[in-house]
Amino acid sequence: MDAAKERVLILGIETSCDETAAAVVANGREVLSNVISSQIKLHQRYGGVVPEIASRRHIETIDDVIDEALSKSCTTFDQLDAIAVTSGPGLVGALLVGVSTAKALSFALKKPLIAVHHIRAHIMANLIAHKELEPPFVCLVVSGGHSHIVLVKSVTDFEVLGRTRDDAAGEAFDKIARVLSLGYPGGPAIDALAKQGNSEAVHFPRVTLENELDFSFSGLKTAVINHIHKLDQTGTAYNKADIAASFQAAVVDVLCLHTMLAAKRCGIKKIALAGGVAANSALRSAFETECKRYGAEFFVPPPVLCTDNAAMVASAGYYEFIQGRFASLSLNAVANLSIS
Ligand code: KG4
Ligand code: ZN
Repeated sequence: MDAAKERVLILGIETSCDETAAAVVANGREVLSNVISSQIKLHQRYGGVVPEIASRRHIETIDDVIDEALSKSCTTFDQLDAIAVTSGPGLVGALLVGVSTAKALSFALKKPLIAVHHIRAHIMANLIAHKELEPPFVCLVVSGGHSHIVLVKSVTDFEVLGRTRDDAAGEAFDKIARVLSLGYPGGPAIDALAKQGNSEAVHFPRVTLENELDFSFSGLKTAVINHIHKLDQTGTAYNKADIAASFQAAVVDVLCLHTMLAAKRCGIKKIALAGGVAANSALRSAFETECKRYGAEFFVPPPVLCTDNAAMVASAGYYEFIQGRFASLSLNAVANLSIS
């Protein structure tokens, strides 16, 4: 192990939810391979992720995914400098598969083990996509399980400025998609359908809480569901695309408003998006417009680095590596691991 060597190769492993992923990344920003085995088809029939099925599929897939990540990057186990793995937050049974695999590799190969926080990893996808980006910046992390506004002070120093009090943004997308019978995952389906709808057809609530940087999406979710039920009960025909577009506009407005407010309060002119919902086209374009208006630089990874992947884990692992922050073989998976 030599933190001063020129090219540090990290194997990243990600199994926190329903993607089994492995990647090899050089020096935190150069992706040599990024293999993702999605379980979406397995969970679709249940309308959401079934934790036991996710864990079992991770076990069946993880070895092949790692082999493919190594072969695609033309890297051997011997050439790796460390193994980085998501240890939380996420589904504990799913996380355990990645953590156990990483521990076994670390022990057998005598390579350091690095524990990575899933949300920090999502943020690091921006450093992969934008080689010029350096902290400090403000990042909105929106995924199936999280909605956080994070001040990234350095590559390893993060402060949460705002968070959801109830549902995550992606969870709201998935629930509304289910009510509209659009299937799972709901985010991409609503994104696509909303393009054909009128975002001003229905005015759904935009909730602002006492801490103006926090979010709450449960009231919005209830408002959309009640709206659809009323139309159903009265036998009124409605346009799903209008509802999808109006719901999406309400989520995007709140996410954008609160993040811009956070950046202004911190005097930061670099704003980034991360997490699965960052793949949303309306969110990306609203941030682009608002950042331009505020005179801030806007950063967002390509969609493949927004949703769960292991390149972002290897990248976050690299920054822990250069600070010598390694995990022991007693590392455990933690479902609700705190970002700080
Ligand atoms: O980051 P991610 O892959 O997994 C978690 O860490 O949760 O995020 C998955 C979430 C799902 O809720 C999915 O519906 C949402 O991201 N998502 C989207 C889009 N693509 C994925 N939400 C809105 N628009 C999209 N285009
Ligand atoms: Zn995620």
